[in-house]
Amino acid sequence: MAGNKNRQFLLKARPTGRIQPSDFELVESAVPTAGPNQAVARVLYLSLDPTNRIWMTDVEQYMPPVALGEVMRGAGIAKIVESNNPGYAVGDLVTGLVGWQDYAVSDGTGLAAWTPLPKDLQVPPTMMLGALGITGITAYFGLLDIGKPQAGETVVVSAAAGATGSVVGQIAKIKGCRVVGIAGSRAKCDWIVNELGFDAAVNYKEANWKDQLAKACPNGIDIDFENVGGEIMETVLSRMNLNGRVVLCGMISGYNSGEPMRGPYDTILMKRLRVQGFIVIDFMDRFAEAALQLAGWMLEGKIKHRETIVDGLEKAPTAINQLFDGENIGKLIIKVADA
Ligand SMILES: NC(=O)c1ccc[n+]([C@@H]2O[C@H](COP(=O)([O-])OP(=O)(O)OC[C@H]3O[C@@H](n4cnc5c(N)ncnc54)[C@H](OP(=O)(O)O)[C@@H]3O)[C@@H](O)[C@H]2O)c1
Repeated sequence: MAGNKNRQFLLKARPTGRIQPSDFELVESAVPTAGPNQAVARVLYLSLDPTNRIWMTDVEQYMPPVALGEVMRGAGIAKIVESNNPGYAVGDLVTGLVGWQDYAVSDGTGLAAWTPLPKDLQVPPTMMLGALGITGITAYFGLLDIGKPQAGETVVVSAAAGATGSVVGQIAKIKGCRVVGIAGSRAKCDWIVNELGFDAAVNYKEANWKDQLAKACPNGIDIDFENVGGEIMETVLSRMNLNGRVVLCGMISGYNSGEPMRGPYDTILMKRLRVQGFIVIDFMDRFAEAALQLAGWMLEGKIKHRETIVDGLEKAPTAINQLFDGENIGKLIIKVADA
C-alpha cells in the first residue's frame, strides 16, 4: 500500500505486441495537495480495459493517445480526501479517469471530470465499473440502440463471459432472443449457460467450434454483437441471415497485432449486413438511463455480475494481459486500496 507516497505508472514506451511491464516506469512522489478549485482523491479500484492497449498506441482513436511520460490513463473509483472544488466533497466516492496511481488530482473539467457516486450506493462500488458502469452501459446501448433485438431473433456475442459480453447476452435474453455466446473455456461456457441463462455456448478453442456454432444457431444469426473480430467474426458473419445487424463493439483479437483489422466485406455485401461501429461515449448524455435500467434488472435478478479482482496497483502492468489471455471472467479490476 502507498502509505504517504503516491505511486504512479508513467507510460514509458509504446507497446509492440503484448503489453510489457517495461512499457511503464513506476515513480514515487509525495501525496499531492489540492490547489485552487482542485480535489485530491485516493484511488480505490482501477478498471482494466482492452481500450487501455489502444490508448497506449499512437493511432487515430476516440481520445488522444496517452503521451509518453504521462500517467497511464485508466478508469476507476476513488475517494475524495481533500477538496477545494465545490463539485466534490471529502468522503465522496467518484468514478472517472483516475489513472494508474495511488492519488489523483482533478479540477472537475475535461478528461479529469469525475462523477460522484450516489451517497446511498446500495451495491459494492466495483459494480460501477462493470455491469452498472461502462461495460454494462456499452452492452445496453450497443445491443438495444444499434442491434435493436426483436423477440425470437438469434443473437451471437463473442467474448461472451467477459464484462461486456456477459451483460449483452443477459439483456438479449430479457428481450426474448435466442442467445449464443462464444468464449474461450469450458468453465466460461458453463457459467454463461448455467448461471446467466444463455441458450448455448461455443468454446472457440475446441477444434469443432464452427460446427458447434452451426448447431447452436439452427435459424441462422440475426445480430452479431462483435467483441473479438478476426476469424471469430468471419465465422459468425458467414452464418448470418440476410439483412442481419452487426454491432461492432470491439476487435480485441487484433489489438496487440499492430496491423489494421480487416473485415469480411464479401460476406457483408452478399448478405446485405448492416455493420455499425460505436463507442459508448457517443451515448454519454443517456448514461443515467442505462444505469437505472441495468440496476432495475439486477434487483429483479435478471442480470448477474461477476468480477476478477487483482490486489495491488503494482500488478496492473501484468494483470492487464489477463484480458488478452482470457484469464478474466467478468469485469477485470485492480484493487488499489481498501474502501
Ligand atoms: N465500443 C465501446 O465503447 C467499447 C466499450 C467497452 C468495451 N469494448 C470492447 O468490448 C470488448 C470486450 O471488452 P471487455 O472490457 O468487456 O473485456 P472482457 O470481455 O472482460 O475481456 C476480454 C475477453 O476477450 C477475450 N479475448 C481476448 N483475446 C481474444 C482473442 N484473440 N480471440 C478471442 N477472444 C479473445 C477473452 O475471453 P476468452 O476467454 O473468451 O477468449 C477475454 O476475457 C473489447 O473488444 C473491447 O474493446 C468496446
